[in-house]
Amino acid sequence: MSVARTPSVSLRGVQIYAGLIPSEAQEALVAALRECARQAPFFTPVTASGKAMSVRMTSAGRLGWVTDRRGYRYEPRHPSGVAWPKIPDQVLTLWRDLVNAERDPDCCLINYYGEGSKMGMHQDRDEGDFNWPVLSVSLGDDALFRVGNLERGGKTESIWLNSGDVLVMGGAARLVHHGVDRLRFGSSTLLEKGGRINLTCRVVA
Ligand code: SIN
Ligand code: FE2
Repeated sequence: MSVARTPSVSLRGVQIYAGLIPSEAQEALVAALRECARQAPFFTPVTASGKAMSVRMTSAGRLGWVTDRRGYRYEPRHPSGVAWPKIPDQVLTLWRDLVNAERDPDCCLINYYGEGSKMGMHQDRDEGDFNWPVLSVSLGDDALFRVGNLERGGKTESIWLNSGDVLVMGGAARLVHHGVDRLRFGSSTLLEKGGRINLTCRVVA
């Protein structure tokens, strides 16, 4: 994957590399992710309060992010007991180019958004060291991504993320609240059944 090193947009410190992944590379990446999901199938996460999230989820890497009645955490195994698959090379290349060439992420969370899926405003804060940025990749349908503040509430700003966009939340933006309000379902033909995949890579330890 060719990499431009300057973000095209910065939204409250979230650096967005719009259209970074060319379409053939997006297709190859989806094929790699399909293989990940064959090994570690998507499941429906449930929050500690017992509410099912609208996205379906799996992970790749040394650790996977899970949530169930016991709450949010990283686990070395998929709920079925199998180890998580390796993080696809294409994703590691993006991480090495945009975040850090020496230390690979521990986790690549893979979220699938079907029709009507969304993600409430939250911080990514289950990791041990917030000096490590979070890298996020959008594939498939357009999604309205909302960025808020370090504290809950307050004014927010939104931007449509398109397939092939990559963003980095680091520095002062590492703990900013963010979420996905909605998709333009069917806006992309990348995924056979429509919808969107979002990858988020993190160093956990
Ligand atoms: C997330 O923050 O967990 C997902 C962000 C996205 O889907 O773009
Ligand atoms: Fe997040």
